Amino acid sequence: MTSTDSAQQPAKDTAKAPAKDPWDLPDVSGLVVGVLGGTGPQGKGLAHRLAKAGQKVIIGSRAAERARAAVDELGYGVEGADNAETARRSDIVIVAVPWDGHGETLESLRGELAGKLVVDCVNPLGFDKQGAYALKPEEGSAAQQAAALLPDSRVTAAFHHLSAVLLQDPEIDEIDTDVMVLGEVRADVEIVQALAGRIPGMRGIFAGRLRNAHQVESLVANLISVNRRYKAHAGLRVTDV
Ligand SMILES: NC(=O)c1ccc[n+]([C@@H]2O[C@H](COP(=O)([O-])OP(=O)(O)OC[C@H]3O[C@@H](n4cnc5c(N)ncnc54)[C@H](OP(=O)(O)O)[C@@H]3O)[C@@H](O)[C@H]2O)c1
Repeated sequence: MTSTDSAQQPAKDTAKAPAKDPWDLPDVSGLVVGVLGGTGPQGKGLAHRLAKAGQKVIIGSRAAERARAAVDELGYGVEGADNAETARRSDIVIVAVPWDGHGETLESLRGELAGKLVVDCVNPLGFDKQGAYALKPEEGSAAQQAAALLPDSRVTAAFHHLSAVLLQDPEIDEIDTDVMVLGEVRADVEIVQALAGRIPGMRGIFAGRLRNAHQVESLVANLISVNRRYKAHAGLRVTDV
């Protein structure tokens, strides 16, 4: 490049771009949400809230007829299908199966989940006479197990601390809680934050990368202790954000 050429180059913009507003989240209203294990209380509760907020929702089951039977009580245009069809037809796929079936379910759906935004809400917990306690998955957490099993998916984690009882209660209009959202890619995390924010009363808050999912999943053991002592359906609020 000659000195004349360089003189013709536009001056380099050295000014820093203004920091992005962390509450400037994308519009997710047109995305289809699938829920694997959507016939259980957590999956049905999330499906109910998201569909009521206007989201297109499909609940999945290992047996399509169980999912179709469950949608009758949900309304709001929720559809039912088997887990594979649910994954195929959805943009965002929430994993709401028990920890026992987590690895096997995801492994069997690797193809259908390729390219999808996966949201893991699974809490690996054990229960004994002393109450609930956190298990220690080999991969670090359920979310990290999902990421390891689904290399072609965009894995995030969220919705761990919600009470399925509150989610399903038709008398309750607002769920007073924050949702911690974890993930590796900011754009994906923001989609999940925006999705949580569609439910009245909820905010989705970035809470770190997947290597920190274990604490978030484990905290549910503490919330269960709170619920038992105070006969409550405790949620979480993150202050000063
Ligand atoms: N309940 C809550 O308040 C809550 C809150 C936050 C997070 N979570 C998490 O959300 C997940 C679902 O909770 P849940 O209480 O709804 O659980 P659940 O009722 O025990 O299971 C949900 C659904 O998963 C399917 N399923 C059962 N065993 C399975 C297996 N071995 N493999 C694949 N699918 C299986 C069943 O649907 P089909 O038989 O129709 O396939 C079942 O209806 C759990 O991992 C939990 O940690 C729960």
